[in-house]
Amino acid sequence: MSEFRNYGSLRLETDERPVVLTGPNGAGKTNLLEAVSLLTPGKGLRSAKLSEILRRPGERGERAVSAPAQSVPEAGTTWAVAGRIATTDGVVEVGTGLAMDGGTKGRERRVVRVDGTPVRSQMDLASILSAVWLTPRMDLIFSDSTAARRRFLDRLVFSLDPPHARRVGKYEHTLRERTRVLRGGAVRGPKADGHWLNVLEDSMATTGVAIAAARREVAGRLNRVDATSQRARAFPSAEMTSTGVVEEWLDAGPALDAEEKLRAALRASRSRDAETGGAAVGPHRSDVKITHGRSGLAAEHCSTGEQKALLISAILSLARLQAAERGSVPILLLDEIAARLDEERRCALFGNIAAIGAQAWLTGTDESVFAPLGATAQYFHVEDATVTPW
Ligand SMILES: Nc1ncnc2c1ncn2[C@@H]1O[C@H](COP(=O)(O)OP(=O)(O)OP(=O)(O)O)[C@@H](O)[C@H]1O
Ligand SMILES: [Mg+2]
Repeated sequence: MSEFRNYGSLRLETDERPVVLTGPNGAGKTNLLEAVSLLTPGKGLRSAKLSEILRRPGERGERAVSAPAQSVPEAGTTWAVAGRIATTDGVVEVGTGLAMDGGTKGRERRVVRVDGTPVRSQMDLASILSAVWLTPRMDLIFSDSTAARRRFLDRLVFSLDPPHARRVGKYEHTLRERTRVLRGGAVRGPKADGHWLNVLEDSMATTGVAIAAARREVAGRLNRVDATSQRARAFPSAEMTSTGVVEEWLDAGPALDAEEKLRAALRASRSRDAETGGAAVGPHRSDVKITHGRSGLAAEHCSTGEQKALLISAILSLARLQAAERGSVPILLLDEIAARLDEERRCALFGNIAAIGAQAWLTGTDESVFAPLGATAQYFHVEDATVTPW
């Protein structure tokens, strides 16, 4: 990768074993995980803006001060991440980065290449690599906005049902376009864009119902994996339910009826949506309820340790299900997770990772936490944007 956050350039060779990254605060451990997460569709594990990722030289300490002038990127220079990924169909090279159309003041665009060839949509990455992550920031997921929980479930769905990424991308794009037309309509008159609005809402209705249906379906399958798995003590099953108006329509009748209802609801909310910017109904307003399988308590009422265990449980179920259904396992990006589990849960986590055969990327400041992994993992020390195997 190059010009990526605090990294000028870095090349890292790993094998298929779990990757342990240790080093002091601010070294660049989470940045590495973020780089891996950007080889999948979406904004990565920090939900960052593309331009925010570009290395800002001179911002930190001696390294930046002593850096030679040529390491400072020219205006318009962009960041890039590339990876060689061993998939069930052989090795695939994936690259992504930021492109500026028309210089630094121009539009930011994410470019994606697969085996050197540009692909039309980053959503195509979903069928090559799947990755799921847990970060300290996700401790707030149960008290956070509904968007954080939807993103969590959607990421699980991407892994089992890769076309879901394209659906979500298309829906969000159409929703933005509808808002643009609705707001323009306020100037041109309400009838001016009627036909185009019908077309957009038609697309939102079919894609929106497909999104809600995929979330419901995957959550149901994940809940069934949990019930039969062997790790109930450390990681109780996380019962997930996607909830919202569209989900209620799907409960009540066939998908075609739900599409019809969504189409009608979008049409009816045009003037309100023009003001608020968005849409009053649709799968972008759904929530995800998670309950503790053993106690039956809603996750928001569980202890913080239990909440973490529920999230881990969900991604372990995902990895098992993906292995069974697709013959591949997702990459697990676990930022500062191990150190914050008690010893029993930490060992259970390591045991599960080994049993599933997933390449987990684990970070922490304290090396001793990872000792139980022994030779089953590969270890790197990260300090001041330099990564050294040990
Ligand atoms: N765009 C950027 N340009 C330059 N440096 C950046 C950029 N974005 C973030 N950084 C810096 O990268 C450094 C490493 O961040 P990172 O989050 O990877 O640290 P970490 O090793 O995970 O630390 P911690 O143990 O505290 O979580 C930080 O000092 C941060 O300020
Ligand atoms: Mg970090």
